[in-house]
Amino acid sequence: MKKTIVLTILVAVFASCSDSDTFQDIEGTTPTTPTNPTNPTTPTTSVTYTKDVKSIIDANCISCHASGRSASFRPLTTFAQVKAAVENAGLLSRIQLQTGQQGIMPQAGRMAQANIDLIVKWNTDGLKEN
Ligand code: HEC
Repeated sequence: MKKTIVLTILVAVFASCSDSDTFQDIEGTTPTTPTNPTNPTTPTTSVTYTKDVKSIIDANCISCHASGRSASFRPLTTFAQVKAAVENAGLLSRIQLQTGQQGIMPQAGRMAQANIDLIVKWNTDGLKEN
């Protein structure tokens, strides 16, 4: 009985080895590692407005920075508006202030560091829309 089990395991091991050898011989290349579908924002992909930044601004900023609120609330509802705020209105430095510091955005306090990092990387990656 024990011998049968050992034999079965050995056969399984040899079979799996020869399977992968055959696969590589046929394909001629080593299979690439699949990307993780639950984590689309890997450090190697470019951050874009549509994919990453818009949802952060929508959740944390447009309650105040909606279109047509008043002159003191610069609207942040479109790609062009948010890009312009990074380039001309110090958006990046505002979000990196500490909670309680004058000018911090959102006013209630600093966002999660992951959100701040994404927006900073968006700028580094060239402020792309898509
Ligand atoms: C509770 C309301 C409120 C929220 C939420 C808020 N802001 Fe503001 N924001 C203001 C007000 C009021 C001003 C104008 C006063 C000032 O400059 O601090 C302002 C000013 C700014 C300015 C400068 C605009 C200019 O034309 O000089 C930027 C950039 C900015 N906010 C970005 C953001 C971002 C990004 C978020 C979200 C991460 C955010 N704000 C969330 C109320 C808010």
